Amino acid sequence: MDNIMNSPAYKAAREKAQELLKKLTLTEKIGQLSQFGNSIYSSEEKIYEDHFREGKVGSFLTLRGAEKTNKIQSDLLEMQRTPIPAIFADDVIHGYRTTFPTPIAQSCSWDPELTERCDAAAAKEAYAAGLKWTFGPMVDIARDPRWGRIMEGFGEDTYLCSQFAAAAVRGFQDNGKTPLLACMKHYAAYGACVGGRDYNTADVSLETLHEVYLPPFKAGIDAGAATVMSAFNDVNGVPATANHYLLTDVLRGQFGFKGFVVSDAGAVGELIAHGFAADPKDAVCKAFSAGVDMIMAGDMFNDNIPALLEEGKLKMEDIDRSVLPILTLKYLTGLFEEPYVDPDGEKIFFCEEHLALAREAGTQCAVLLENNGILPLKNVKSIALTGPLTHPCGQAHLLGGWCGIADPSRTVTIEDGLRAAIPDANINVIPGATFVHMDKEDIDAIASDAAGSDVIIAVVGEENGMAGEAGSKADLDLCGSQEDLILALCDTGRPVICLVSAGRPLVLSKIKDKVAALLNIWQPGTEAGNAVADLLTGKVNPSGHLTTTFPYTVGQVPIYYNHPSTGRPASGRWRFESKYMDCPIEPLYPFGYGLSYTSFEYSEISLSSDSIAADGELKVSLTVTNTGDQDGAAVVQLYVRDLVASRVRPVKELKGFKKVFLEKGASTRVVISLPAANLAFVNSDLEWVVEPGQFKLWIADNSADERFEFDFEVT
Ligand code: GLC
Repeated sequence: MDNIMNSPAYKAAREKAQELLKKLTLTEKIGQLSQFGNSIYSSEEKIYEDHFREGKVGSFLTLRGAEKTNKIQSDLLEMQRTPIPAIFADDVIHGYRTTFPTPIAQSCSWDPELTERCDAAAAKEAYAAGLKWTFGPMVDIARDPRWGRIMEGFGEDTYLCSQFAAAAVRGFQDNGKTPLLACMKHYAAYGACVGGRDYNTADVSLETLHEVYLPPFKAGIDAGAATVMSAFNDVNGVPATANHYLLTDVLRGQFGFKGFVVSDAGAVGELIAHGFAADPKDAVCKAFSAGVDMIMAGDMFNDNIPALLEEGKLKMEDIDRSVLPILTLKYLTGLFEEPYVDPDGEKIFFCEEHLALAREAGTQCAVLLENNGILPLKNVKSIALTGPLTHPCGQAHLLGGWCGIADPSRTVTIEDGLRAAIPDANINVIPGATFVHMDKEDIDAIASDAAGSDVIIAVVGEENGMAGEAGSKADLDLCGSQEDLILALCDTGRPVICLVSAGRPLVLSKIKDKVAALLNIWQPGTEAGNAVADLLTGKVNPSGHLTTTFPYTVGQVPIYYNHPSTGRPASGRWRFESKYMDCPIEPLYPFGYGLSYTSFEYSEISLSSDSIAADGELKVSLTVTNTGDQDGAAVVQLYVRDLVASRVRPVKELKGFKKVFLEKGASTRVVISLPAANLAFVNSDLEWVVEPGQFKLWIADNSADERFEFDFEVT
């Protein structure tokens, strides 16, 4: 389906919007630029009535349910001089009521089409509740797991994140009858916040900005993303929310974006705290002039734009230019034809199809980090289940962040999943483990109780509030006494299967060699227990691969695979090279890493040529064979290195991947195409260039796998 921003319907909607725009008063125009939260409607003094009558409200966020949105919509349409329906938005990041794995987890499936399906399902549920707009996908590249919002994005790699960004937009928007406008956020370089501290400064070169942080936004816009959200952080000293270069020169000028920009919550007013605006009126002038169209949230535009027009600091055509795409998208989403939703539609929440998809997704996103053969479980008679995430509170934590709309009581717990999957096993759930300090005797009591079972399963990690917005952490170890608990469980001599559920990579160095198996389940969502049970019993073979580096220690951070070589690349051969003296050079688990219950062999690897023109294409073919005794999926990864260029290039860059499912013993031929255009990088003149020269190429199972290395050149 053609993306909605290029569709015939878009053109028709724009014409209707142009007609309507001519009839609006200034107040009504500015009202379309103003989004409000719950407060305006729930206030005793009914402030909304004046706002509605004067047409000062164009959009709402985080109002939930068909009943409520219908009521507000009818009040609004009844009271306004010019009836213009409001557009309702919310943070539908990984599901609406049915919760899917977090985006960082979804990216570890290396299956963008899975994300497209999850977001299409989420859009159907959100649409049924009266929403026409989601504040997603979040496509911030994150190279620092101290930053809690790494949970909301698709990892550290620009190429992979761009594929998922486009897939998410297609899922949300190209949904036929239930289009949910996507919102590419947070524009831009929010993940580059210094120290991984949320809201902090991002200071990146323009080359890095264009090469690393912006492409996922471009990919989403090329897929038809209707809106963009400006970020809280400043970028090289100019706040993103008042950054004319980013919001106008690049976003509209270079990317051809035709939708509208909404500020992040409060980001316009925060220009004052940034020391970039003197007062609210100055902040409004700077944000609006830079390219922010709609304010989230409140009256700052309503209160200040009229005076700015009076003073000649803003012009009416600026206002019209911002109102037009908002009205266009209200027509495009059908709001004028049908401003209400049928509350009956909410029966789609938690429908069998969506639950089945959530379960499937949960199995595809988990990453098997260690396994001494204990998994998949076989003929287990008794299991001890412990860890802070087995507590009933785990039902919320296993959903991850941004689940204000979800229903934690619907989460299938790990215990429920195991009991359903292995009804004959005796499952001894041992309470008492927490995320905070535990006394030694409490730990020992749990361990001695657990020792009575064949196998111990420990579910550890983070509470959902420990990642996500403002979830910055200086320490990435398992918090509280979780590490001590695991070590005590290992000391019983019983095999310990450690399930890690968190919104970010955690430091697992001290336990990785002690446990029998280590499965990073992320935050799997509503079907958590069933998905985990499918994996532990081998009904589904883990196929997840990491899209974010797991550090050996937090001191290595920021650590990511696609880094430049430096003049002293770390080899461990001598002192004088770029490394730390007090920890290993390599991370604990590299980008792209993931184990399986089976084994795969790559063979008969061939390149279509050993040289291609700058506008040519290289095809890499190989045979993948499932040489183990269980069906499973392999993720074949293609990395390149540009050996000499006009700017230093990363030692490795992902430029292609293919996930292939193979029954045990089966083989298949895989072809990965590498257009030379994908070798382009941003030169010092900020141009995307493909430079001739020698390249290395790897077909690999992860970014550290160099078994299959090839040379080719670009002429
Ligand atoms: C928050 C977040 C943003 C979210 C918005 C609305 O502060 O930064 O991602 O969409 O507010 O909830």
